[in-house]
Amino acid sequence: MKIQTCLFCIALTALVRTSAVAQTNQFPFQDPSQPLETRVEDLLSRLTLAEKMSIVHADSKFTTAAIPRLGIPRRWMSDGPHGVREDVGPDTWNPAGHTDDFSTAMPAGICLAATWNPGLGYSEGETIGQEARKRGKDIMLGPGVNILRTPLCGRNFEYLGEDPSLTSQMCVGYIRGAQSQDISSCVKHFALNNQESDRMTINVEADERALHEIYLPAFKAAVQQAGVWSVMGAYNEFRGQHCCENDLLLNKILKDEWGFKGLVMSDWAGTHDTREAVFNGLDLEMGTDRNYIDFYFAQPYLDGLKSGEFPMAALDEKVRRNLRVMIATHVFDADRKTGSLNTAAHQSVARRVAEEGIVLLKNENHTLPLDATKINSIAVIGENATRLQSHGGESSEIKAFYEITPLQGIINRAGHRVNITLSEGYSKDGDDSLTERAVAAAKSADVVIYFGGLNHDSGLDCEGSDRKDLKLPYGQDELIQKIVAANPKTIVVLEGTMVEMDAWLDQVPALLQAWYPGMEGGNALAHVLFGDVNPSGKLPATFPKKLSDTPAYAFGPAAYPGTNGTVTYAEGLLVGYRWYDAKNIEPLFPFGFGLSYTTFKYSNLKLVESDGGTNGTIVTAQFDLENTGAVAGAEVAELYVHQDSPSVQRPEKELKGFKKVFLQPGERQTVSIPLAPNAFAYYDPAQSGWVAEKGDFKVLVGGSSRDISLQGNYHLAQAVFAKD
Ligand code: BGC
Repeated sequence: MKIQTCLFCIALTALVRTSAVAQTNQFPFQDPSQPLETRVEDLLSRLTLAEKMSIVHADSKFTTAAIPRLGIPRRWMSDGPHGVREDVGPDTWNPAGHTDDFSTAMPAGICLAATWNPGLGYSEGETIGQEARKRGKDIMLGPGVNILRTPLCGRNFEYLGEDPSLTSQMCVGYIRGAQSQDISSCVKHFALNNQESDRMTINVEADERALHEIYLPAFKAAVQQAGVWSVMGAYNEFRGQHCCENDLLLNKILKDEWGFKGLVMSDWAGTHDTREAVFNGLDLEMGTDRNYIDFYFAQPYLDGLKSGEFPMAALDEKVRRNLRVMIATHVFDADRKTGSLNTAAHQSVARRVAEEGIVLLKNENHTLPLDATKINSIAVIGENATRLQSHGGESSEIKAFYEITPLQGIINRAGHRVNITLSEGYSKDGDDSLTERAVAAAKSADVVIYFGGLNHDSGLDCEGSDRKDLKLPYGQDELIQKIVAANPKTIVVLEGTMVEMDAWLDQVPALLQAWYPGMEGGNALAHVLFGDVNPSGKLPATFPKKLSDTPAYAFGPAAYPGTNGTVTYAEGLLVGYRWYDAKNIEPLFPFGFGLSYTTFKYSNLKLVESDGGTNGTIVTAQFDLENTGAVAGAEVAELYVHQDSPSVQRPEKELKGFKKVFLQPGERQTVSIPLAPNAFAYYDPAQSGWVAEKGDFKVLVGGSSRDISLQGNYHLAQAVFAKD
């Protein structure tokens, strides 16, 4: 049973892979014309005990063993979620030193979410799927869909924001796109993995409604709408049980209630106990720093099977789930897609996601877009102007084919006619001479474009730890103030996740939020800055004025980062804008906010009722959206639902639909957003299901969670109940 990783094995695997494709359909499992379950059962029936064991645990950092006898190739996994990660190992986290493991670096998840464009989610997933196949991968470890509960979480940049509806829609597109390429996505980290502090040990306590209404919907959508084939358990505990061995989450909710048929893998070293893992829903153990033979799902599992402690049927079920994913992703089929890398189309998807994800937060007196024909000089200031970001952040890092920095993007766009200078402005070591030089450069330029914010250094936007506060690092608050004093025409571009801005926001005329925009990010930024692209991104999370305004913070250390090993989600349902609405706190920039170079007008809201027909729609919001400005642009129309007199606590309003609409100047379109009963429902723990109460609701439509232009009344004549 002992599985060794060696170069010979890898070479052998490669041979087996080729011959598996070449051979004829000797067995039913190799016959693509057979039904999926027939193939699964056939293959399962051919495996010896040792072979079954080899399917449920790793044999290197990112693989499981081949079974050459049956033509089963080695199974390769890769991070995720922003592209195919550099190869490591096999037995270490150090790079493997390959020269063919570059990939297209997509914008980070939070930037994708800021596009509010599920179609682009599909394109990003499809691109990553194609690159994964070309790189020989079978399962891509993403998307990450954990809800942004506290802005401090070090991995917020990988995830899709604070709202369950937005996160769900964006991840469904991504997964469908990725899985269309004959790989499995692996949605992660299931569940309630909302902080990096003590991530391996912290126990999360959250009530039933918060669990079902806030933290689970994206996973449920991944399973039921996107048909995701793999789910990764989280490191943390939930209600006293590790998430990778959590009976409630894995057996009861994921598999029994939601009907998930694929495999559950552990996060790397997220398994802690053989017995718990065997019985509580884990199907594949990955990533422990032990010898592979000592994995909980290796020798200890085998011993328990032999002694009768563990039933063979449970092992068969785990193997069945693993095989199902292999067969569903066409591992044994001669016509499995072979993928492509770094094509012009891939580069274009990377650029479009960035262009649509960059958010214009402030633009006084039409400071933007810049007109390159009217500017003689630009002072580019700030370390992020030249910093490569794609290769940082830990497991989501990418060895990018190239990365267009913001400086390079500006040079590409305007360098032929505008004099562009660069000053670093700040550095980790707080070098004052950098400030002086930046201020001097600012003084002598027509325009300053400042590129600052965060980066992927440990303690900032990086896996493994959370931020300590929401301050801009490296003295940037003071630096920006000095630069604006020297040149009022200073445009601030922030990379990273949200920061406090009170020290300088009033003084700067224009502000862009660029997140981590991927390897085409510099070009995308230049296109937005110079108006080739009209910004259309909207915030996927509330930007607070200060940390003390944020929900998790308000309940003290027991609610974040936790005390005595437990973090209690005391704010319950009031996550993100739900909190700011309930507590009447003015955010710095609200959820769903983002400006454009044009203006939009909403009018004529009608609520058209229907009988629930085939797609479940009981009412459709129809309204007109018009581009009333002089340039083409896209508006994300957001729809929120409010219940008038609920019998239980309901958030003031909740996002239940949105549509991104592209309009020429003067163009008007009628937009339709259908609503099913679940748009009006809350989770009732007593009935383990969703209740839409009979009564009055308001349908609110507008350009952000705090900019509602239209309002309609909807009366639900009869209560509706649906099982989870
Ligand atoms: C991360 C996962 C990642 C895995 C493999 C873990 O530390 O939490 O997101 O997929 O490592 O790199």
